[in-house]
Amino acid sequence: MERRVKLSQSPILSFKGITKRFPGVVALRGVDFDLYEGEVHVLVGANGAGKSTLVKILAGVYQPDEGEIFFNDKRAIIRNAEQARRMGISIVYQNFNLINKMDVGQNIFLNREPTVGKIVRRVDWSRIYRETSAILKRLHVHIDPKSLVGDLPVADHQMIEIAKALAMQSRILVLDEPTSSLSEQEIEDLFHRISSLREEGVAVLYISHRLEEIKRIGDRVTVLRDGEYVGSESIEKISLEKVIKMMLGREVEKIYPWKPRPVGEVVLSVEGLGSRGAFENVSFSLRKGEILGISGLVGARRTELALAIFGALPTHSGRLIYKGKAARFNNPGDAIAAGIGLLPEDKARYGMFPILSVAHNITSAGLSLLVRRFGLNPRLERNITEEYVRKLNVRTPSVKTEIQSLSGGNQQKIMLAKSLFTNSEVLIFDEPTKGIDVGAKEEIYNLMLELAGEGRGIIMISSEIPEVLGMSDRILVMKEGRITAEFDRENATQEKILEAAL
Ligand SMILES: Nc1ncnc2c1ncn2[C@@H]1O[C@H](COP(=O)(O)OP(=O)(O)OP(=O)(O)O)[C@@H](O)[C@H]1O
Ligand SMILES: [Mg+2]
Repeated sequence: MERRVKLSQSPILSFKGITKRFPGVVALRGVDFDLYEGEVHVLVGANGAGKSTLVKILAGVYQPDEGEIFFNDKRAIIRNAEQARRMGISIVYQNFNLINKMDVGQNIFLNREPTVGKIVRRVDWSRIYRETSAILKRLHVHIDPKSLVGDLPVADHQMIEIAKALAMQSRILVLDEPTSSLSEQEIEDLFHRISSLREEGVAVLYISHRLEEIKRIGDRVTVLRDGEYVGSESIEKISLEKVIKMMLGREVEKIYPWKPRPVGEVVLSVEGLGSRGAFENVSFSLRKGEILGISGLVGARRTELALAIFGALPTHSGRLIYKGKAARFNNPGDAIAAGIGLLPEDKARYGMFPILSVAHNITSAGLSLLVRRFGLNPRLERNITEEYVRKLNVRTPSVKTEIQSLSGGNQQKIMLAKSLFTNSEVLIFDEPTKGIDVGAKEEIYNLMLELAGEGRGIIMISSEIPEVLGMSDRILVMKEGRITAEFDRENATQEKILEAAL
């Protein structure tokens, strides 16, 4: 890709000495940052480094406590989202901002609905749906503009959020982790759009924990660490190792710490399982101490399979054999009680209680365990949860903090801790490292190995093929609700997996 940023011109946007404090945290500390027209500027940093806070200041959601913003060389105060939009700033938020009870078209044109009629003005619905269709088509997304957002899977939400931002005439386009639920093809389409917007002179600010994306689309990269500006570099001149080092202040030795370990007897068998409209005739088995990767494209129905095993989705055929006996989980409570844990993909929708503390969120699933064993003891709860917070390096003022005030990636880490806390014999991790920084990924992989080493069976659903290849003992590939291939670790390659998935 040709890079041409003319840094000689002055930036369209400049942050100077921006500081933002929250109770117990300084999210940004004197941060300087410049964004130029026609560049894709990647912003990276560990979970909680302050990236989304910077975006929200740009969006007018938060006001900085100190510092100044310059827009086209003029001092600007961005009071609210409406003003940001009028300045030509459009944003794809990390935690989607869609309204579930509205349809896709209504969401995309929310608050800027086109109207018709000279005397009596009314909303031009046919234009809304026509334009929504056109935008979705350009992104190769097959979603009916009239479907209710709440009825659609997460991956679609992300595409709609992107479509919404792209539908505006923007001078600055901000994407905060836009690809975490997208398929390879969708990412490809998105990158295409980004490139052409850049050609048109749009300034793009791009945030991602998928470091390989930096090289694919970035012109420049800026690194934040603990709310502080570390530096900016041209992508051509910097190695990924260097970027990681700037982010974490240390080197990551081995991203995938997999090592061989003894694998025991079969703990869970799935026999001919089917769930209407989702998947059909799925069979496989999982051994104690084994890490079984499930690969496939987004939408291959892997999440549905996980939910069905977990008792959260009805099945119409087949059965489960768990610890040698036929088992039936009618709801997640049954599954948890039997020793099956699930880290859901859509962590915010299932499993997370936004206004409860970090500690309660970790122990909520295993509360009965805590009570049964020890009686409800707040100090014990705090000690246990503090240990997880330390292990996973969660950035939070305390375990009493409401989980909703944590950064996206730190919320994910808490949900992971929750699934670990349940003491399960079978753990299903659905996209465990989505949105998580490289340093914490390494921690999570180590934890997975530790759990497997204790004899637990682990199913890891992941859309990142390198992660599946790097961490699994055995790999299944799903496509359109069926298992299309199985590989041993030694035989698996990226090409073979893709071939079975496409
Ligand atoms: N509304 C809020 N109230 C209190 N603390 C907040 C709030 N928003 C963010 N923070 C804190 O500010 C810090 C920076 O958070 P931010 O969301 O900007 O991180 P991030 O770099 O986007 O991380 P991630 O990669 O996990 O998304 C974190 O410690 C977070 O807990
Ligand atoms: Mg964030």
